[in-house]
Amino acid sequence: MFERLERMPDDPILGLMAAFRADPDTRKVDLGVGVYRDDRGETPVLAAVRRAEQAVLARQTSKTYVAPVGNAGFNQCMERLVFGDGHAALQAGRIRTIQAPGGCGALRVGAELIKLAMPEATVHVSMPTWANHVPLLTGSGIKLERYPYYDATSGGVNFGAMMAALDRLPQRAVVLLHGSCHNPTGADLSAAQWREVLALVAQRGLLPYIDMAYQGLGTGVAEDALGVRLFAAELPELIVAVSCSKNFGLYRERTGALHIVSQTTQSADAILSQLARIARTIYSMPPDHGAAIVQEVLSNEALRGAWLDEVGAMRTRITSLRRDLVARLAQACPQRDFSFIERQRGMFSYLGVNVDQVRALRERHHVYLTDDSRINIAGLRSDNIGYFAESVAQVLAASK
Ligand code: LMR
Repeated sequence: MFERLERMPDDPILGLMAAFRADPDTRKVDLGVGVYRDDRGETPVLAAVRRAEQAVLARQTSKTYVAPVGNAGFNQCMERLVFGDGHAALQAGRIRTIQAPGGCGALRVGAELIKLAMPEATVHVSMPTWANHVPLLTGSGIKLERYPYYDATSGGVNFGAMMAALDRLPQRAVVLLHGSCHNPTGADLSAAQWREVLALVAQRGLLPYIDMAYQGLGTGVAEDALGVRLFAAELPELIVAVSCSKNFGLYRERTGALHIVSQTTQSADAILSQLARIARTIYSMPPDHGAAIVQEVLSNEALRGAWLDEVGAMRTRITSLRRDLVARLAQACPQRDFSFIERQRGMFSYLGVNVDQVRALRERHHVYLTDDSRINIAGLRSDNIGYFAESVAQVLAASK
């Protein structure tokens, strides 16, 4: 039976990680996988996380099972972080949360719930969207379509085209939105645009599914959750998938959550029981360690403050790298406008070069980015940003 299985092509993002590791050139620059790095190119354990981890381990007396919905304390802390303390939907008891194995696990459990509730559902994703959204969502059996989003000319959102497309969707269509730090483009909705999308979604009876994997890395912890908080206050139903990989630096601990907002406490309870069943039939229970750490960080005032400072430092570094990169590119290739990079948010931007130029960057200059020209801004450092800008200039000049 197994002999019939063919070898799969490498994952577009994770395959690049392996190629980078195998490259012996000392000038190599990794702008591939979306992992935060400091100015030494490292992804250290956050100090607040380290302290919380020690407290968790010192206190832990058992490794017995927790529950399919995970750690109740973590789930509560995440609700407050995501929706904001005292949010009306929280107070009304309309939100239920399940801890999930990372943002990916949350997205998949959410897709399974949609499939259960609406077997014929179609989820509409932005063009472009994170490569792994497609298999994660369609793996549950729901259909997938795309709506226009990125405007390559301005480096912003093609809001008119997006709204026109959403306005044509049938009632109960699921619309996947990125909470902040759009992956892969860095082009986010403004506050006014979130309000317009909200009005349209409400009027047409669409079901928004918000993926928030970078809370705190765009404009601020509360600012990045603006869309989620607005939607949860105004809409009868909403799905939110959240990841702690980037903002807590817990990548390999697989820590995330799925929040469902529903109309009544009764339906919320019914949904939670469905979520527990879904988890039980796929992986039974989420891993505990990362969630226990997050709970400790968020429920201890000193640790929470230290964590907020560390998230702030990551955000500031990304913002200043964006500014620096635009200045370097303006110098190295003055004929081309890269100023959009400074207007974007989060870890990613599209450089806007074609696939041959991406390959030339990789093969001739040892600069690694995905074929769609997405760069992880946090992979730049003060000692390689100049080399990167020069490499881009050379590749652009060579393909004239
Ligand atoms: C990315 O987009 O690079 C990250 O979210 C990591 C991943 O799993 O793809």
